Amino acid sequence: MSPFWKRVDDDLHAMREAGQYKSFRNFMGPMGAVSEIEGVGRVVVLCSNDYLGLANDPAVVEAAISAQKKWGAGTGSVRFICGSFDYHRQLEEKIAVLSGTEASTTYVSCWNANEAVIASLMSIGGDSVIAISDELNHASIIDAIRLGRQINKASQSKVYKHSDMADLEARLKEAAAVKLKLVVTDGVFSMEGDIAKLDKVHALCAEHGALLIVDDSHGVGVCGATGKGVVEHFGLLGKIDCMTGTLGKALGGAAGGYVASRKNLIDLMMQKSRPQIFSNALPPGTAAAASTAIDIVLRDNSRVTKLRRNVDHMRAGLRQRGFETVEGPSAITPILFGPTAKAIAASKRLLELGVFVIGFGYPVVPEGAARLRVQVSAAHEISHLDQALDAFSKL
Ligand SMILES: Cc1ncc(COP(=O)(O)O)c(C=O)c1O
Repeated sequence: MSPFWKRVDDDLHAMREAGQYKSFRNFMGPMGAVSEIEGVGRVVVLCSNDYLGLANDPAVVEAAISAQKKWGAGTGSVRFICGSFDYHRQLEEKIAVLSGTEASTTYVSCWNANEAVIASLMSIGGDSVIAISDELNHASIIDAIRLGRQINKASQSKVYKHSDMADLEARLKEAAAVKLKLVVTDGVFSMEGDIAKLDKVHALCAEHGALLIVDDSHGVGVCGATGKGVVEHFGLLGKIDCMTGTLGKALGGAAGGYVASRKNLIDLMMQKSRPQIFSNALPPGTAAAASTAIDIVLRDNSRVTKLRRNVDHMRAGLRQRGFETVEGPSAITPILFGPTAKAIAASKRLLELGVFVIGFGYPVVPEGAARLRVQVSAAHEISHLDQALDAFSKL
């Protein structure tokens, strides 16, 4: 065996030995409150990001089918060569409304969107640009900053302690002489279920002349009175320099991501961001599903309200059973177990009891902080949640 293939085997072996090898379940039907897993049967799903239950909503699915029929399978090119399709423009106008910004542009994922905006801004900053990032930001933000550092070797980056405003202020003060300061934060932190202290982050950015980028992938559709996200929760809609987010969670659960901001930044993204220039645009079915999901969120608050009720019911039930839960407007509730093996064992037991919740251990979270991540959806009825709570009682 060549050294390369042996290295691949060694790496996989090391993951198995360390208990870090992931096994992937096979779904035999659509995502929903209850879904069918191969070899397991029907289970209550408590680990999907389909927060509003729109992934299998008839109107969303029908929109995807019709768009596919009208526009074909896909774009057949990148946008700078063949241009955009009208469905891109319609979707991007709606994303701008949802985000409270002048304009937006889409990518095939939020991973790409983060890479696009962060690396592009770091590369136009010359030798006077710094990205300052919360230590618990999503991997796509971390990698985007790494990419920005490589593209512009003169750029800098700093990490501030999670949601520690004194530490963020210290990093901003250290960077006082740097002309272009970017502060990047998740809206909802996906492993903790807590939200950014956006009022304070926003005020610090204004005081220190920093540009604020908020990735609200887990907040949109969930937080705020009408589901416009963490920004709405803090009354900051329309006041954030740049928003990024995914179309693959609450907004239909398919795929896609976006950057929403002022017109000139979106223009720059279209002109320069590499995931835009060198990668095909969103296909029609995916775009139409997200577009219809956004219409539903903008016109009807009932799913957001039902989600809130469900989250409150789940957290209260968990607390009654002796589990510690976080408070706050997100739909994520981590339950800490300490060692990775304990969290994995709990998740296996719950699956036997008909509830699908994932255990996260090292290296996704720090060693000793392994957890189950409970995610509630508006698709759940109280009976589903009670069934899950019964299973938790048996742990
Ligand atoms: C905060 C955050 N940003 C970005 C992403 C990536 O989104 P996508 O699946 O659209 O690439 C995720 C997905 O897990 C996320 O949680």
